[in-house]
Amino acid sequence: MYHRTARVAEHVRLADRTYRVRLDCPDLAAAIRPGQFVMLRLPNTSDPLLGRPFALYDTVLDAAGRPVGVDVVYLVVGKMTGRLADVTSGTSLEVWGPLGKPFLDVGAPDHVRLVAGGIGQTPFLAFARELLGTRGFGGDAPRKRAAKVTLYYGVRTAALAAGVEDFRAAGVDVHLASDDGSVGFRGYVTQLLESHGTGGPLVGCGPEPMLHSLARLATAWDVPCQVSLETPMACGVGACFSCVARVKTADGGWDYKRVCVDGPAFDAAGLVWD
Ligand SMILES: Cc1cc2nc3c(=O)[nH]c(=O)nc-3n(C[C@H](O)[C@H](O)[C@H](O)COP(=O)(O)OP(=O)(O)OC[C@H]3O[C@@H](n4cnc5c(N)ncnc54)[C@H](O)[C@@H]3O)c2cc1C
Ligand code: FES
Repeated sequence: MYHRTARVAEHVRLADRTYRVRLDCPDLAAAIRPGQFVMLRLPNTSDPLLGRPFALYDTVLDAAGRPVGVDVVYLVVGKMTGRLADVTSGTSLEVWGPLGKPFLDVGAPDHVRLVAGGIGQTPFLAFARELLGTRGFGGDAPRKRAAKVTLYYGVRTAALAAGVEDFRAAGVDVHLASDDGSVGFRGYVTQLLESHGTGGPLVGCGPEPMLHSLARLATAWDVPCQVSLETPMACGVGACFSCVARVKTADGGWDYKRVCVDGPAFDAAGLVWD
């Protein structure tokens, strides 16, 4: 794990209250894999004291194809993200990672369907590149794992849809849904997915009710489904137990798992939903 102060190379607005911050950090960029996350902290302040977790959105390559930076996309929701939005290029952030585990192996399916709600699309760009074999991560050479990747992406309204062009440019088939009908299908993203019928493995990230609906669909369709949880976290490294999720055990009971070290991706069928 790397812990350093990284220079902000770029900071751009992607959508309403949504930004992409690009950090110069070659060692982290070379090591991190899709599904893993980083903790970011504003330097030289104790307010907020703790870092906050953010998914790997993308790695940045130099002209020779070497990883030199990491992109994070975030939605402004509270204290840290509100202050992060004021950070300018050329200043720096504290960053540590890679944290957590990569996405679970999906095998070699024809078609992987990624399902995102709200800011839950962020872990999926790098994952789509990995699945389509257009980029290697963690020192691995690129290897095609899926013939096709589709992103089902639900937002409250069109102004919040962030990074859609990045996904299309990466070769992902994107289908949008919005609560107010301002873009794409009017309704929940899981309703849009349901209208397309069953298919390959599902991978979800977003609000818990959305993930629960996805898990139910996966059970009904009998397809594998993993979900990446965005549980609030204090330490990010397994020390504080602030991030636990309930996971079924072999004896029919359940136990707590720390999302920061055992996840953030879990088999949806193994989680206790209520
Ligand atoms: C593994 C992981 C990856 C994540 N990746 C991203 C990402 O790529 N982009 C992104 O924008 N966000 C991501 N998040 C969520 C992000 O960490 C929170 O939005 C952030 O911590 C909020 O910090 P804040 O100080 O701005 O808000 P705070 O001031 O801490 O909280 C503001 C409000 O947001 C709520 N809140 C805080 N954290 C969460 C959360 N995780 N889920 C729901 N509500 C929350 C609080 O309860 C409060 O109501 C991720 C979370 C996890 C665990
Ligand atoms: S955030 Fe501290 S144990 Fe997971």
